[in-house]
Amino acid sequence: MWEYAIFIIAYLLGAIPFAYLAGRYKGMDVRKHGSGNIGTTNAFRLLGAKLGVLVLLGDALKGALAAYLGYRFFGPWGGIAAGLLAMAGHSWNPFFGFKPSGKGVAAGFGIILVLMPKITVIAIILFVLVVFFTRYVSVGSVLAALTVGILVFLFNEPMAYKVFAVIAVSGVVIRHRTNIQRVLKGTENKFNLKR
Ligand code: G3P
Repeated sequence: MWEYAIFIIAYLLGAIPFAYLAGRYKGMDVRKHGSGNIGTTNAFRLLGAKLGVLVLLGDALKGALAAYLGYRFFGPWGGIAAGLLAMAGHSWNPFFGFKPSGKGVAAGFGIILVLMPKITVIAIILFVLVVFFTRYVSVGSVLAALTVGILVFLFNEPMAYKVFAVIAVSGVVIRHRTNIQRVLKGTENKFNLKR
């Protein structure tokens, strides 16, 4: 019975707000600066590369650990359930009154790295190329997420991963609504690394 606690742990892992904590360490509330997002991109933008990399590792690891635990004890369906709970904890964080918080990309990256590593490699390559050529992290994130969604079906991954793809990709796209509007208006932040 105790193994069902994994799902609560996954949710709480997802809710660890690494970008917020890194900002606090620097005396800044990341919710009030940059895009206001409690996520890896805003951490890079506001806090610089060193803390940005730490936030990326923290956010990706919490997703990976949640998916690993779910998979280890309950197989593919457990992996995706724990992964989705971690993304929910990250994106609508209970420590911030369930308001929209992170956008789920770095946490999602950790989850798919554990569950579908081949697809993850393709998504990372696409993400890096898109961000390099457009300087829009949000465009890279949305296109990489959509690519994951398409590849899961093209590679005929297990049904659990197809369900994960539909829910997680929808979540990532929904959380990027305002970014997409800004891209269309030409007012989206271009990615410039703070040194
Ligand atoms: O992963 C989030 C990224 O795609 C966009 O972040 O801070 O520019 O809204 P941000």
